Amino acid sequence: MTAIDIDYAWRSLRDACTGRGDGMTPAVTIDADGRWRADGAVEPEAAALLDTLAPITRAGTVVGQLGQSLDGRIATITGASHYVTGAASRTHLHRLRALVDAVVVGAGTAQADDPRLTVRHVDGADPVRVVLDPNARVGPDRLLFTDGAAPTLHVVAQGRRACRGPGVETVAVAPDAAGALAPATLLAALAARGLRRVLVEGGGLTVSRFLAAGLLDRLHVVVAPMVIGSGRPAVTLAEIETLDAALRPPCCTHALDADTLFDLDLGGPG
Ligand SMILES: NC(=O)c1ccc[n+]([C@@H]2O[C@H](COP(=O)([O-])OP(=O)(O)OC[C@H]3O[C@@H](n4cnc5c(N)ncnc54)[C@H](OP(=O)(O)O)[C@@H]3O)[C@@H](O)[C@H]2O)c1
Repeated sequence: MTAIDIDYAWRSLRDACTGRGDGMTPAVTIDADGRWRADGAVEPEAAALLDTLAPITRAGTVVGQLGQSLDGRIATITGASHYVTGAASRTHLHRLRALVDAVVVGAGTAQADDPRLTVRHVDGADPVRVVLDPNARVGPDRLLFTDGAAPTLHVVAQGRRACRGPGVETVAVAPDAAGALAPATLLAALAARGLRRVLVEGGGLTVSRFLAAGLLDRLHVVVAPMVIGSGRPAVTLAEIETLDAALRPPCCTHALDADTLFDLDLGGPG
């Protein structure tokens, strides 16, 4: 019997998310807690993929991701972020997109990067694209609002005028006193649409809000061996005075060519 290779492992992961395996990938079992086991030998590359991504297949998982330099920057001060991380890390990001129901970005990213947020580097379905834009400041010419490549939710504060376009739906959310949209409210709005497995793709401010709210189950931080020296920060949380208050979640590392993925197990809400 041949060893389980990376293509088979990837199909197993997708089947675990869709529940539509139809017995096509019986040699790998991924349980409801995101633990995997295989009947037979597994190639090292396939085992690494399963170790990294099986936890994401748990129902209702919310995962954040950031690709940063050694000095914790995700972009230059002008917003240039193509590319902090390498090709293997981009493939990893596309795998994350393919496993989730929805991919969330903040207004800063939608405006600066003009991303498509589709799955292009691996086989898999595009997630619903979600733009958090309380002030409706993202330009209507952005690809998310014009390309029709996948459904897009434009989340704005109530009373703001959202963008129209092919496959674009407005979600109006009541902001808090500071004008912020509570991450729990956002996740509830997505869950109401059947979107429960969620990737918070960036940027730093958006991921940090979900992290501060205790709503990330996992955080994938990909560190590239590069020093930018200035620019947009990755994670920004409330100031602390001693390191006792720092987050020290259980963590696994995986090599992605020259980059290193830190897979933080945050345990999720509650
Ligand atoms: N390397 C990477 O992995 C990566 C990934 C993504 C993006 N990027 C880069 O990161 C930069 C942008 O990151 P950023 O941290 O500056 O901005 P960002 O997180 O993309 O967007 C932040 C903005 O989104 C809105 N927003 C997000 N969550 C919100 C919430 N819960 N409530 C209310 N508003 C919310 C706010 O808009 P308002 O300002 O209108 O209030 C907020 O200022 C870009 O240059 C992009 O290229 C890098």
